[in-house]
Amino acid sequence: MNFKWDAETYTNQFSFVPRYGTDLIDLIDTKSSKSVLDLGCGNGVLTKQLSERGFKAFGLDASPELLQIARRNYPELVFLLGDAVNFKLPEKVDAVFSNAVFHWIPEEKQPDLLRCVYDCLNGQGQFVFEFGGFGNNALIHRALKEEFYRRGYSYTMPFYFPTLGTYASLLEKIGFEVTYAVLFDRMTELAGEEGLADWIRMFIQAPWENIPESEKNDIIRETVGKLRSALLIHGKWYADYVRLRMKAKKKSRLN
Ligand code: BEZ
Repeated sequence: MNFKWDAETYTNQFSFVPRYGTDLIDLIDTKSSKSVLDLGCGNGVLTKQLSERGFKAFGLDASPELLQIARRNYPELVFLLGDAVNFKLPEKVDAVFSNAVFHWIPEEKQPDLLRCVYDCLNGQGQFVFEFGGFGNNALIHRALKEEFYRRGYSYTMPFYFPTLGTYASLLEKIGFEVTYAVLFDRMTELAGEEGLADWIRMFIQAPWENIPESEKNDIIRETVGKLRSALLIHGKWYADYVRLRMKAKKKSRLN
């Protein structure tokens, strides 16, 4: 993932990201799971919640900046530096959990990610995850793209937001059996008067590469202006999130 995290701002201003992951933990079957890997654990907020629910939880993330915060805030937990598309664990785990991570991984690397998960799970292991699904932030990306094009720049979508069917079939190809899947809208409130502009600055990086800072500010201002009618609701900014939430296990049934 080629992304520079502003880890402190992310932790302080975008705390809704792990907050929404709390009910995802409910999907992990407690009877068959003791050890849980929080894949892409970021600042460790959900790793901590997993441990408070009684799991032997530990985290893995590719960002040293986010791991520094995780280790500072939860020194009693183990956090490993590693790449979600190329990692091996010393021991297999009962469950792999992941919230708001997989959309950062390019489509061509998704099979590597799923193979790493498959290899680190016990035979009966569970895989529970959520990330941005098809149509995620579509209003925001469309408005940005229009403003880029109007000014003669191209806009490449920097995330992978698959349909439910596409992802289910990828899981099956790797050897998983999908036991639960849902794609749903989640309008998500953003903090502060500059909520949407701050969100764009925080999460959209790659498309700005050849654009001077002053023009970037103009593009964000124009884009935010165009989105007021759709995403400023009763004085609060929202992002048009769509979540893909799934549960899978290693295929065990014979056909
Ligand atoms: C998401 O959680 O869906 C997301 C967050 C930031 C950028 C793109 C997607």
